[in-house]
Amino acid sequence: MRAYHISGGVPLCGEVCVSGAKNAVLPILAAALVSSKPSVLYHCPDISDVTNAVSIMKSLGCEVERNKDRIYIDASDIRSSDISPFFMEKMRAAIIFLGALLARFGEAKISQPGGCKLGERPIDLHLMGLRLMGYRCEYQGERLYCCAEKLRGCTIALPFPSVGATENLILAALRCPEEVVICNAAKEPEICDLILYLRKCGAHICGENTSVLRICGGRTLLGAEYTVMPDRMEAATFLCAAATTRGSLCLKNVCPEHTCAVNRMLCNAGCKIRQGDGRMEICCDTLNAVGPIRTAPYDAFPTDAQAPMMAAMATARGVSVFEENVFSDRYRHVPALLQMGAKIRATGRCAIVEGVDRLHGAGVAATDLRGGAAMVLAALCAEGESVVSNIFHMERGYECFAKKLSACGAKIRITE
Ligand code: EPZ
Repeated sequence: MRAYHISGGVPLCGEVCVSGAKNAVLPILAAALVSSKPSVLYHCPDISDVTNAVSIMKSLGCEVERNKDRIYIDASDIRSSDISPFFMEKMRAAIIFLGALLARFGEAKISQPGGCKLGERPIDLHLMGLRLMGYRCEYQGERLYCCAEKLRGCTIALPFPSVGATENLILAALRCPEEVVICNAAKEPEICDLILYLRKCGAHICGENTSVLRICGGRTLLGAEYTVMPDRMEAATFLCAAATTRGSLCLKNVCPEHTCAVNRMLCNAGCKIRQGDGRMEICCDTLNAVGPIRTAPYDAFPTDAQAPMMAAMATARGVSVFEENVFSDRYRHVPALLQMGAKIRATGRCAIVEGVDRLHGAGVAATDLRGGAAMVLAALCAEGESVVSNIFHMERGYECFAKKLSACGAKIRITE
């Protein structure tokens, strides 16, 4: 089983070029199916979730060509609206193809999406919004069949600003001839990226970066050239890596405003961060406990940065308190950190981290994308050797993770 072999104790030092955002490119790839004309996307990360999304598109009859970070999509001849369970179970983002296929064909057949196990991840909000728009959604065994009946304008009030539900409903609303309003919509930067791409294709959508979105559908979309935003979660992970190893990194091709909450928390912990024209420089020689670190929808502290931040706090001076408010089971990385000598008590939504002087290497298995990244960060600062297996989790969302780390001095290699 492929694994990272890490010799810890080396402060990271160097430059990291942040890749395009996984959680932006995936909904934009789905959205490209709605256009009858080709699209060209730039700054697409070479990660397995993108490979899976491309496979889904090709299985539907879409022409897709990848050339480094450029993806050419021609959906003019797609002929199927039925996504195989084989593809659906590989990632949560597969669910976003539902909205895209409904917009294109007025019908779609999918199954429950897979992805990181972070607790219950229902799609009830997606279905609630689709039904309000006039789509019929019914389960036929394990398969979910949706089709447009009498589409009508409506106002959808989301009880929680779900990122995936917001994206799916934006896409499905493109087929609605009347205005659809989404209240309490997610405001994550990736939603804005999706809207900007769709607007370039000719869609009439307004309200990005706010919690009220208005979509006037029924228009023919004509494809577009678009550059995907930088990955704010990769940036946050490397910021936490610098803090964890007491190193200094320069991140290039970033949007500092997208990681404000993480930057603030790391500065409170003693890191020094300078930012400007698409760069961030972080250096850290001492680290103090901070908190409480409460995760919440954007622009609060992001749930995807909770695990990498916990890796940093594991050796900070003092006691930190985490509160995970987005997912019900997002402390699955804690046992591995305990194996490395961390002192953490996780109960329900709370985790109390008592900083220790040092961690020691261990053999651990990644549990999910961000939890696995946290294990790597902890191993980089631990004394001695560590092995982190199940690295397919990290390869879903971090482009050239080991290569970027070793370019900053990390002693990390991949073994088959
Ligand atoms: C997206 O997941 C991201 N994934 C996640 O990133 C991210 O952690 C999450 O948004 C929150 O920011 C992608 O964009 C591919 P949600 P998503 O719908 O859309 C509940 C990563 O590491 N909920 O905002 O699944 C849900 O159970 C991944 O890159 C319902 O109850 O997140 C969860 O508790 C992990 N019913 C909460 O809302 C629904 O119908 C947030 O989910 C939908 C969601």
